[in-house]
Amino acid sequence: MRCYRFDSFGLENLHISNVEPTEPGPGEVAIDVRAFSLNYRDLLVVRGAYNPKLSLPATPVSDGAGVVAAVGEGVTRVRKKDPVMTQFVADWIDGPFEKRFVGSTLGVPGPGLASERVILPERAVVPMPKGYDFEQASTLPIAALTAWSVLVTEGGLEPGGTVLTLGTGGVSIFALQLGKAMGARVIITSSSDEKLQRAKELGADHTINYRENPRWDKTVLELTERRGADIVVETAGIATMTSSMKAAAAGGVVGVLGGVTGLRGEIDIAPLAMKRLRVTGILVDSRAHFEKLTEFLETHPIEPVIDRKFAFEELPEALRHMESGSHFGKIVVEV
Ligand SMILES: NC(=O)c1ccc[n+]([C@@H]2O[C@H](COP(=O)([O-])OP(=O)(O)OC[C@H]3O[C@@H](n4cnc5c(N)ncnc54)[C@H](OP(=O)(O)O)[C@@H]3O)[C@@H](O)[C@H]2O)c1
Repeated sequence: MRCYRFDSFGLENLHISNVEPTEPGPGEVAIDVRAFSLNYRDLLVVRGAYNPKLSLPATPVSDGAGVVAAVGEGVTRVRKKDPVMTQFVADWIDGPFEKRFVGSTLGVPGPGLASERVILPERAVVPMPKGYDFEQASTLPIAALTAWSVLVTEGGLEPGGTVLTLGTGGVSIFALQLGKAMGARVIITSSSDEKLQRAKELGADHTINYRENPRWDKTVLELTERRGADIVVETAGIATMTSSMKAAAAGGVVGVLGGVTGLRGEIDIAPLAMKRLRVTGILVDSRAHFEKLTEFLETHPIEPVIDRKFAFEELPEALRHMESGSHFGKIVVEV
């Protein structure tokens, strides 16, 4: 079977290897991967920015969908031929997050999905929602579940609530779509008017170009009768953190999940106390919440926005497309 590996950091070192497929052991399943989607994390992993001490060679890519090809002894959750998606934090089944779960994330340190076949513990797969094909389902385990984690698990979004989501990448577009499906008012920012127009077509109530309008936090207050957003999906990192807190409503939730603009620097904590904000760290979500999300999608179908599909052989090109930042929504690789 073919599988991507990198022996040293850098996109230029990512290559396809032919390796002997292995059989699933007790409690494990073999998945024939049909599609995987890219997340910003995958770029960081391959570049060496995610974990410079990562032991190499490694196989990247953190989420995907496929068919159960074989099951090991004692497996009860799935059967051969079932269409399934991967659970990114493989050991986080339910309940509160525990530090040890970090060691079970897929696409390092756990197995990567940039492979024709992957062996996973049976606990790390979730049945695909009805009505979704493999390409669409491959976008759900990280981007959609992360948006769900901020909006529902942490944010407790109610119909009529206001969501502010930053940028038009994978997570943010799912936050827009899920927010609208739950009856929220959604404000979205982008560097591009063309992308904002597409966001409007997906139902965004208000759009702000953060490049032309660096005080977008003030605009959010103006758009919300000076109340601010109940939930902020903070995808962008240190450069936007202070403005995100300024744009939040009193008692609002700021879900901090991304670092596209960097992780370290100065922030102004005044709004945090003065508005009694709940600034909460997000690491995708548990399998139990992934199952709730898939249930929701079966009754409120959302068509994932796939910016572009690439062939398996084109993974480096697909990652470069992500690096360019020109995409809107998700980038998918067909296997
Ligand atoms: N902690 C978690 O559980 C978790 C899960 C998923 C992702 N993440 C992280 O969340 C971030 C987003 O992930 P993704 O997969 O959605 O990435 P992505 O698809 O690459 O999207 C990144 C987007 O960030 C936007 N952006 C860049 N600078 C910005 C700024 N100054 N203000 C507002 N938006 C800005 C851009 O939007 P425009 O092109 O519209 O300007 C870009 O499209 C990444 O840092 C990723 O590592 C974390």
